Amino acid sequence: MLEWGGSAWALPYAVRLVFTAFYMSLDSLHAPAAPPIADTDIASLRQRLQEARHVLVLTGAGASAESGVPTFRDAQTGYWAQFSPEEMASEAGFLAHPQRVWDWYQYRRQLISQVLPNAGHVALAQWQACHPDRMTLVTQNVDGLHQRAGSAPVLCLHGNLMENRWLLPPKPCCDARFTEGDAPPQCPGCGNYLRPGVVWFGEALPHAALQQAQDAAKACDLMLVIGTSGHVYPAAGLAHTAARGGAHVVVINPEPTALDGVADICLRAPSAQLLPQLLSAQRSPH
Ligand code: OAD
Repeated sequence: MLEWGGSAWALPYAVRLVFTAFYMSLDSLHAPAAPPIADTDIASLRQRLQEARHVLVLTGAGASAESGVPTFRDAQTGYWAQFSPEEMASEAGFLAHPQRVWDWYQYRRQLISQVLPNAGHVALAQWQACHPDRMTLVTQNVDGLHQRAGSAPVLCLHGNLMENRWLLPPKPCCDARFTEGDAPPQCPGCGNYLRPGVVWFGEALPHAALQQAQDAAKACDLMLVIGTSGHVYPAAGLAHTAARGGAHVVVINPEPTALDGVADICLRAPSAQLLPQLLSAQRSPH
């Protein structure tokens, strides 16, 4: 697994999902209540959005929180709290306990099928539709809520929760229509497992999506980092790339994040409340 750093970042195919400090620090848990966001900050960001050549948006689990989807760390609640994220989102964890990991993903699939995109997803989708050449939307979320809100294209760095794929390269006998067992389903011929179509820790991200996201990070002049703790690379590295290229970086999150130091401004607010204020009725000047 690669460590964070310039040389690692430069190896597109070799990039692996790396998490540096998995949990939010205790400081952030005890952070004082955030002051209200000044109207002038909102007005100035609306102006920047109006004028930006290209806006890169990176979203994380917090963007779906107000839809009722627990964030990745919060998803480990109740029965699931006894298991670490590494156990539930890694090939090693799956091989050690296939049924447990499968059941956890089935639980999340069921949950996501019952929720709707929120006002933040919708505001992003509408802005993207009005400014099709000026926004690249990149998400770490596997819940499909951006797409259901109407966003297209969406660069999904961590895959799609609603899809399955084979654990091992499929043989001719592997046909997803004919499996046996259901937790998880297996190929009756060779025993290969179906597994969720998400990127697990230690795995490569989809190359084309990552490349496009990195290109957008280099080219953008404004980046919105929404609802992510910023601990998981290479996604979090996009903010570093954008900042290095001179882009104005804005973090939108009610809590402190690992990317606050890279940001020009941190707006401490829930995204479904703030994004409609920022993005409503913006006409393209171009
Ligand atoms: P996390 O669960 O690490 O962080 C969620 C972030 O959302 C936190 O910073 C919260 O403060 C913030 N948040 C909560 N409610 C919010 C709201 N209403 N509006 C805005 N922000 C809010 O989730 P991610 O950063 O997305 O990977 O985690 C990144 C990746 O780590 C995930 O994609 C997942 C996980 O491992 C895979 O599953 C491959």
